[in-house]
Amino acid sequence: MTKLNEIYKCNICGNVAEVLHIGVGQLVCCGENMELLNEKNNDEGGEKHLPVIEIEEDLVRVKIGSTLHPMEEAHHIEWIELIADNNNFKKVFNPGDEPIAEFKVKANILSVRAYCNVHGLWKK
Ligand SMILES: [Fe+2]
Repeated sequence: MTKLNEIYKCNICGNVAEVLHIGVGQLVCCGENMELLNEKNNDEGGEKHLPVIEIEEDLVRVKIGSTLHPMEEAHHIEWIELIADNNNFKKVFNPGDEPIAEFKVKANILSVRAYCNVHGLWKK
């Protein structure tokens, strides 16, 4: 059974999926179970992957990494997601972008996640 907001990856084709509505089935891609991605928060490389959060009233600025993460074709942050108690906010990036997002949030922030195409899912 899945849980809300879980991220799964297909280790064959690279599909990444987020659970937006809970169901009882196992997520399958390319004929195999998709891998539930672990949300890293204390691993090596955290200085380039852990979200750094600044809050000014209802504006939340998120930078990926205390040292900004590389944004090259082969290695970049694909998205940042802010999960609040009343909504989810996401910004998607392309190589060459700065891995910085701003969200207008009038709610309690539950977590902020970032997905690196090489080093996976990170959460603060
Ligand atoms: Fe990375």
